Amino acid sequence: MQGKHIILGITGGIAAYKSATLVRLLVKAGAEVQVVMTPNAKEFITPVTLSTLSGKPAISEFFTANTGEWHSHVDLGLWADAMVIAPATASTIAKMANGVADNMLVTTYLSAKAPVFVAPAMDLDMMRHPSTVRNLDLLRSYGNHIIEPAAGELASHLIGKGRMEEPENIVKVLDAFFNESQSLKGKKFLVTAGPTYEKIDPVRFIGNYSSGKMGYAIADEAASRGADVTIVSGPVSVTPSHNNVKIINVESAKEMLAACQNIYPSCDVAIMTAAVADYAPAEVQDHKIKREKDEVDHIALVKNPDIAATLGRDKQPGQLLIGFALETDNELSNAADKLHRKNLDMIVLNSLRVPGAGFRTDTNQVSICYPDGSRKDYSLKSKREVASDIIDAIADL
Ligand code: CTP
Repeated sequence: MQGKHIILGITGGIAAYKSATLVRLLVKAGAEVQVVMTPNAKEFITPVTLSTLSGKPAISEFFTANTGEWHSHVDLGLWADAMVIAPATASTIAKMANGVADNMLVTTYLSAKAPVFVAPAMDLDMMRHPSTVRNLDLLRSYGNHIIEPAAGELASHLIGKGRMEEPENIVKVLDAFFNESQSLKGKKFLVTAGPTYEKIDPVRFIGNYSSGKMGYAIADEAASRGADVTIVSGPVSVTPSHNNVKIINVESAKEMLAACQNIYPSCDVAIMTAAVADYAPAEVQDHKIKREKDEVDHIALVKNPDIAATLGRDKQPGQLLIGFALETDNELSNAADKLHRKNLDMIVLNSLRVPGAGFRTDTNQVSICYPDGSRKDYSLKSKREVASDIIDAIADL
């Protein structure tokens, strides 16, 4: 925690009284804390208390009224190593989920590039209302970390889930996060992602529905743990959210193979998420095939190189090679076959038969299969959470 820049967002809930302790503990652990409060938060705890404890003026407006000094949410967002919103009320959670930037706190949240931690605090019925549940799911899907509230007696004297997690535990979560963010430091990752396009003529290609979302989520996750990540990417519209991800853009399987072979020898881990076209047109036409002039009764195809199998052959001791299998039938036996055929260290299986898994979705349900025949099954989760499970499994290997 030493030297870390932390924005502490405080919203208007009874639990705001605990924020004073949270500031104190963060400062004691060596962090620099900038408090950003919603106007309502000031009804529950004074800015003077928080400014004194943090050693920096607590901010709640865009401007300081008497001097006209502008508080730049963009600069704050860039300054932060982490943003913590504790307590987070149902209303602020809803604004964050939907981008309602009507106060300094939510505006700062939208500008923050750093990881965000949200510690909800509210009454139990508000906590379990479908809108809160959905908004928290949205925040999770943005990659925000939810620090689940504890159960106990609430301000309403009702008993249930909704108490903000204790400041000591929030500090522990942050501490664990910063330690983990270094856990893959020095490791080089190669990730293939997206589809490949195999040219037929200057305007047409053979491709597939891969969006690249799974590969990019994996790259972001590895980078967030300190790895040095390169994505060799087919044509996609997603972008990485982590700064430390380098992209090499390719179109065809052959280009993807060449890029991978270039960097694989210096990599510790290669993760093959790309949906590589198995076949490419034998000949690329120089001119657009015209409807009137040419009768095209077939397009001859030739087999593309198998990138994973090629890297599998070149694999050196100490390198890990991870594959994906997207299957419609005989899932487990097909995955096991690919695992051995391509000399993989593990294969992530997703079935197109599972609703919400596979191509063009934000969610996925996977099983991870190992060469010794063992297997771990996971539930349906956002692709970011699946990425985290996969990187955990790789870290275990
Ligand atoms: N793969 C690859 N190069 C290829 C084909 C596949 O690198 N030409 C990789 C994929 O990125 C994935 C794994 O191999 O990690 C399995 O891909 P998949 O398409 O399921 O397997 P194929 O070998 O193409 O078998 P099939 O299409 O017959 O199921």
